[in-house]
Amino acid sequence: MFPSRNLLHNRRYLSQKITSCSFGSSLRPIAKFDHPVNRDSKCSTLELPERENYFGIKSHNIVKLPERLKEAVDKILGSCQDGNLINNSEKLNHHLIFKKPPLTHSQLKEIEVSCTERVSATHPFPDTSFMSVDDEKRLSNSLNNKIRRNIRQTAYKWKPVVYNQSMAMAYLVARLAPDFASLYKIFCEIRSRDPGFQPQNLFDFGSGVGTALWSAKSCWGMEKFKEVFCVDSSVEMNNLAITLIQGGVWPNQKGEPRAMGEDGTEGSSTIKGLYFRQFMPASPAVKYDLVVCAHTLLELPSAELRLQMALSLWRKSQGYLVFVEHGSRAAYEVIMEIRDFLLSLSDGGKEANLQGHVFSPCPNEARCPRLADTTPCNFEAKYESLVKKQQVLKERFSYVVLKKGPRSKSDPQWPRVVRPVLTRSGHTICRLCTNEGKLEEIVVTRSKNSKVENTIVRKTKWGDLLPVQLSRHETQPDHSPDDKENLKLS
Ligand SMILES: C[S@@+](CC[C@H](N)C(=O)[O-])C[C@H]1O[C@@H](n2cnc3c(N)ncnc32)[C@H](O)[C@@H]1O
Repeated sequence: MFPSRNLLHNRRYLSQKITSCSFGSSLRPIAKFDHPVNRDSKCSTLELPERENYFGIKSHNIVKLPERLKEAVDKILGSCQDGNLINNSEKLNHHLIFKKPPLTHSQLKEIEVSCTERVSATHPFPDTSFMSVDDEKRLSNSLNNKIRRNIRQTAYKWKPVVYNQSMAMAYLVARLAPDFASLYKIFCEIRSRDPGFQPQNLFDFGSGVGTALWSAKSCWGMEKFKEVFCVDSSVEMNNLAITLIQGGVWPNQKGEPRAMGEDGTEGSSTIKGLYFRQFMPASPAVKYDLVVCAHTLLELPSAELRLQMALSLWRKSQGYLVFVEHGSRAAYEVIMEIRDFLLSLSDGGKEANLQGHVFSPCPNEARCPRLADTTPCNFEAKYESLVKKQQVLKERFSYVVLKKGPRSKSDPQWPRVVRPVLTRSGHTICRLCTNEGKLEEIVVTRSKNSKVENTIVRKTKWGDLLPVQLSRHETQPDHSPDDKENLKLS
């Protein structure tokens, strides 16, 4: 299960940062729209909505939970006696959104050095030649205490969330709907770009309340899955997931089938081929079409364990491997760490089964240009609040989908829209990440582009692929001043 030293020391994923990463506005590329409609000058009344998938434009609708899931949630919440549930869920949500990975030894060392320097600069050690030994000791202790306090205040204190029954319920309330929405969007892109892919089995690591299972089911249809294997170290999470599947009826009320016991041995549910376990299976022999690790990377106690887990999951995959986290800078960096680590194994030819490429969001395998920036690469999904019905909220998420095998030669590698599209009266600005791993912006104008091209960019949203091929051509920026302001904010 654990990677060899060689694999873990393949440090391409820690390679040098690139120097420039802002959207290249001085030498904007030329965008040639990649669609046959574009060549048909008579086609001016394009029915875009019907052709959305063709254009790389995805659904921008509000993602709703399936009715059966909503009913099960209502039943569970209706019978919940915990008066602090909403309060706990808000606190947990806040904790998870701002969560960072644990500090590495070298980060901790850096903090120790800088705190020591800071305290020493503000409290210079006096001449001790006239002091007694005891006084000198007292002074030194006081200084060390100050340094220790400073380190405690500066260093991020990572701790895992213990998912007991009350935390599992809080998680359900806080995170089911947004986690479902982001996963559903990711899965829908796989379905629309790879219509021949019909997953027969799913492996979910850190499965929680079973969100990935419900999203995959909504996307591809549950009857198509022959096996779903969920791993979660929390017995309470597993029991809650099983309860949701059973329509909100707790396993012990139903009598049979029984949910997971404290020893983690029993992990059945009413659905044939659905398994819940507390630990990863020891053997990587059984492979899965779809492997998911959602919102769990930051729960692992070290970078080494994250990479080991990512490698185990990559070995388990025979189709797509999905990692998704909240859209914070810290979570995005962890996603990139995993992406670059797995890609570094992919091109080394060490193990044939480790070959793969990035399916989404990046149209490339290059180092992410955002790593040299301060903003994360993230996307947005709209969802209905579970607590305040009808209220529409937005979830920011960072993700990567890796696919086994080489990239298909027919993949046009269209650039990804990585920030909101700016629509103005005469022109539209799209900020893109290209197949060369560069951040670029293009401007589509009413005067220079066709009606169809203008329609496409206006329908395009943050997170979509833009069906264009870019080529470099010297032009002058033609933004109005307020556009420049907007671009600075990106
Ligand atoms: C934040 S929840 C994510 C739940 C789910 N994937 C979702 O997106 O809704 C993280 C889950 O990972 C589980 N977890 C943490 N460390 C784990 C480990 N080492 N092995 C298996 N599960 C783990 C926790 O019990 C928790 O249920």
